[in-house]
Amino acid sequence: MPDDFMPIDGWDHVELWVGNAKQAAYYYEHAFGFRPVAYAGPETGVRDRSSYVLAQGDIRFVLSTALREDHEIARHAVRHGDGVKDIALAVPDATEAYRQAVQRGARGVVEPHVVEDEFGRVELSAIATYGETLHSFVNRADYAGPYMPGYRAVEAGSREGVGLVTIDHCVGNVELGRMNQWVEFYERSFGMTEMIHFSDEDISTEYSALMSKVMTDGQGKIKFPINEPAEGKRKSQIEEYLEFYGGPGVQHIAMASGDIVGTVEALQRRGVLFLNTPDAYYEDVPERVGEIDEDYADLRRLGILADRDDDGYLLQIFTKTAQDRPTLFFEVIERHGARGFGDGNFKALFEAIEREQALRGNL
Ligand code: FE2
Repeated sequence: MPDDFMPIDGWDHVELWVGNAKQAAYYYEHAFGFRPVAYAGPETGVRDRSSYVLAQGDIRFVLSTALREDHEIARHAVRHGDGVKDIALAVPDATEAYRQAVQRGARGVVEPHVVEDEFGRVELSAIATYGETLHSFVNRADYAGPYMPGYRAVEAGSREGVGLVTIDHCVGNVELGRMNQWVEFYERSFGMTEMIHFSDEDISTEYSALMSKVMTDGQGKIKFPINEPAEGKRKSQIEEYLEFYGGPGVQHIAMASGDIVGTVEALQRRGVLFLNTPDAYYEDVPERVGEIDEDYADLRRLGILADRDDDGYLLQIFTKTAQDRPTLFFEVIERHGARGFGDGNFKALFEAIEREQALRGNL
């Protein structure tokens, strides 16, 4: 086992840069069941932006918006639409993580520094990954506040979540021919290894295709699938993403539930829209996946997909895109041993995505 030069404790937070963080926060709170945790903005002495911190289980989202035109968040929102700016990782030492990554070729964006308030100190740094996306390194071992210095706690009330527990994986879309470059980046700068890959033969439909490789850290806590478009008869969904996002970026965030049937029921009740799964999909699922703890009738009713690999099975479902541009969406996943990503579902899923794409006239 090689020396793990980049130990990662887990996901710290995902920050989205959006056009209207106040309304986005309402959506993630009321539709996705997140609980407001902290806020920074003019009322807390921050003059140029507003940031809302929301949490559910171990998942933490930060939604930020610019208050003036001449601001990097405003420019980002114009160029990309609402999207993920930062996949922040919790590390034991944010200075060492930065030093190791930059020494191995990563581009440094925020030099290691410490922010402090009466609750303690947080050590931060950040490097660049694909597109304009960042990986912040966060060491909050000596911090007891609601989120970070500069933020004030928000009264959360007694709001119930929908059972989302943790982030399972974050997927990036990169340009044609660039997937291996980013695979090598995560190998070199993070010491990650490739856990699995899908070829366009696995993931092709009549119209479009993609290639995907999944990178994971030494402890298997962090999983970064990287997609690139592959040749298809028509425009691939990855190309559609790249066109509308204006380059590479985060395609989807998968969040794990311990009770996907209950979680998806709650999300649908709250108005979250999911991709439709064709009824025909369920005809051969029991045969393909075998015995599961859940009732296949519930999966069919809610549109949940099922797949099995050598280690067990998994259940998953994908939302429609979360903003007007056909870019970021979410996945809910429940694993019963399976360590894969539902490649048996890829074809069924992509056919469903392409029906949406056709409705937008982009196929
Ligand atoms: Fe996924």
